[in-house]
Amino acid sequence: MNLSAKEQGGKALNKRIAVYPGSFDPPTAGHLNIVKRGTEIFDQVIVAVSQSTSKKYLFSTEERVELWRKLLKRIPRARVESFSGLLVNYVESKGTKIILRGLRNVTDFEYEIQMAITNKALKPRLETVFIMTEGTYSHLAASLIKEIVMMGGKVTGMVPPEVEKELKRKLRAK
Ligand code: PNS
Repeated sequence: MNLSAKEQGGKALNKRIAVYPGSFDPPTAGHLNIVKRGTEIFDQVIVAVSQSTSKKYLFSTEERVELWRKLLKRIPRARVESFSGLLVNYVESKGTKIILRGLRNVTDFEYEIQMAITNKALKPRLETVFIMTEGTYSHLAASLIKEIVMMGGKVTGMVPPEVEKELKRKLRAK
């Protein structure tokens, strides 16, 4: 069936795009798992790396984006961008209303529910959708992973190999 340009445009707009925001300092195996599973639910997942000026990151925005670029080579329906300012404005600018977040435990839930409700108050048409972590990733936290590498421990399996390499390079140079 041949669709008119307008219909095709409409179709593109109807694509289910999910924005997966986070600090990702650095991306872990758990984050990657959420993106993979997200692309099985949504037509496209945009990983949105936060450029917050109030948080102190180990990796610069460009480095975090570059790490994701490498990881997403194997996931065709996912791509990465960075964003600054309010998440809800960024999500709207992408022509979607879906924010995707991963959940590991009750501590995450308390933080997430506050963010989801605040984002909903700011832009009522937006929805936050949660994917529960797979058991193997429930203990992973970027902060702990950095500490382990800094103290010479092994993080194989906790982060993708590309990230492990960069973490070692960065932390051991310190
Ligand atoms: O990986 P993180 O640190 O839990 O991600 C938090 C993030 C980046 C999603 C959140 O801090 C955020 O949305 N920042 C953008 C600024 C904003 O919109 N703040 C209001 C959130 S309710």
